[in-house]
Amino acid sequence: MFTAKLLSSTLAVLLCASSVVRSQAPLEPDRVMLGAWLDTLPGRDTPKQFGERLGHNAALIHMAEDLPLKTPHLPPVRLLDDANTNAILYLSVYPTVIPEQLKDGDIDAFVAQIATFARSGRGVFIRLAPEMNGSWQPYAQRPIAYAAMWKRIVTAIRANSDTTGRVAFIWAPNMQLGYPYEGGVYSMNATVSAAETQALDTNKNGRLDTLDDPYTPYYPGNEYVDWVGLSTYWFGADYPYLTNDVPPSGSILKLIHGTGPGAMDFYQLFAERNQKPFFITESGAAFHQYRIQSPANPVNTGAVAPGPGALAIKQAWWRQYLTNTTFLDAHPRLKAICLFEYQKPEEITFRDFQITNDSSILAAFKADFEKPEVQSRYLFATVPEKKIVTDPDAKNSGFASVIPTTLGALMASALAAWAVVF
Ligand SMILES: *[C@@H]1O[C@H](CO)[C@@H](O)[C@H](O)[C@H]1NC(C)=O
Ligand SMILES: *[C@@H]1O[C@H](CO)[C@@H](O)[C@H](O)[C@H]1NC(C)=O
Ligand SMILES: *[C@@H]1O[C@H](CO)[C@@H](O)[C@H](O)[C@H]1NC(C)=O
Ligand SMILES: *[C@@H]1O[C@H](CO)[C@@H](O)[C@H](O)[C@H]1NC(C)=O
Repeated sequence: MFTAKLLSSTLAVLLCASSVVRSQAPLEPDRVMLGAWLDTLPGRDTPKQFGERLGHNAALIHMAEDLPLKTPHLPPVRLLDDANTNAILYLSVYPTVIPEQLKDGDIDAFVAQIATFARSGRGVFIRLAPEMNGSWQPYAQRPIAYAAMWKRIVTAIRANSDTTGRVAFIWAPNMQLGYPYEGGVYSMNATVSAAETQALDTNKNGRLDTLDDPYTPYYPGNEYVDWVGLSTYWFGADYPYLTNDVPPSGSILKLIHGTGPGAMDFYQLFAERNQKPFFITESGAAFHQYRIQSPANPVNTGAVAPGPGALAIKQAWWRQYLTNTTFLDAHPRLKAICLFEYQKPEEITFRDFQITNDSSILAAFKADFEKPEVQSRYLFATVPEKKIVTDPDAKNSGFASVIPTTLGALMASALAAWAVVF
């Protein structure tokens, strides 16, 4: 179907337990893995189609699920198997209860599911309780309980020997932009104990403000984290986002390294200092198509001026990091990137983040991405000798899609809604 590139590194190592690699985190390759979060609702998109459009087998494919599990047979891993590659399953796991309410039985069921996936030979990234500093998550604003939950789950998974070397935990907060939200639906106003509130007030000035560290209170410790990651988006020049603007040069550097008072250099503090591989866990530049009433009622209420156009916006974004060899050289710990290949309503506009859907944008992307000096940085999945059946016990062919979260999709994600289709 598409070129099966020979790999020297982890994707291959994964299926070959005896190989020896230098001291690396689980699933850490020598190059950068590229994958995507796709709209896998029926008739929309599939990992196989994504690979065909890109001309390479995605190294990882994102899927999401809630914890407690609604069923052990979601997300739709069958779609990953259909692509017939050894791509890693990159699973975001969203607890739907506050950490203290997660029962041992809920964790046991989750361990059993992940052990089943791992036994199939499929590598699994677990982005556990991501964007944990967002007020919209039930596990947010409780850094002490959050870290305890994290340790409990990691310990339970690691205790199952089927997961050894095949499962990696990614600790991934949201980008710093706008922390802490004040006012309205994004307010950090959950009722939590005084100890939790004090843990968030990192500069101990008696209040939560922009000078507080949005990340560290939630960090469970090096021993419990395999990879670190960050979601990075471009939505436009000004909030609320209603104009189409090209991201100024250095935009992604600002997100990863921080800028201005109180800004944290995430890459330096968590990837470099802690010596962890770094994962750009979600990324995209928004092209605003039209205004909507709300994400729940995304009726077109008028066009948004295209401004410089979708190509100029998206191209400027990918050229800042994905196809930028200077950037890649400067960030040797960057080992994985997940594209947010979605079109969706968020806040007050309908947004298109895709770079592999529109043929002219895809062609422009390939022109940059296929350059040998760029291409040689990346790693793709290969066709396994024997087809992987990630979830052999799945009894039906149903599949589901979780409404994806981005910083701009807080309301939608607060609903954490699953659309299950059979
Ligand atoms: C691809 O783009 C077209 C045109 O914008 C859109 O109608 C379609 O839904 C997109 N496909 C996916 C999978 O989002
Ligand atoms: C979460 O933290 C990120 C930075 O880590 C920040 O941009 C975002 O605004 C925070 N969200 C909330 C709700 O505090
Ligand atoms: C915080 O309070 C506002 C109203 O003041 C409300 O709309 C919002 O849902 C609350 N947020 C949380 C996370 O409880
Ligand atoms: C490429 O990356 C470097 C270093 O990270 C940055 O200074 C430069 O502006 C980037 N190039 C583009 C086109 O964004």
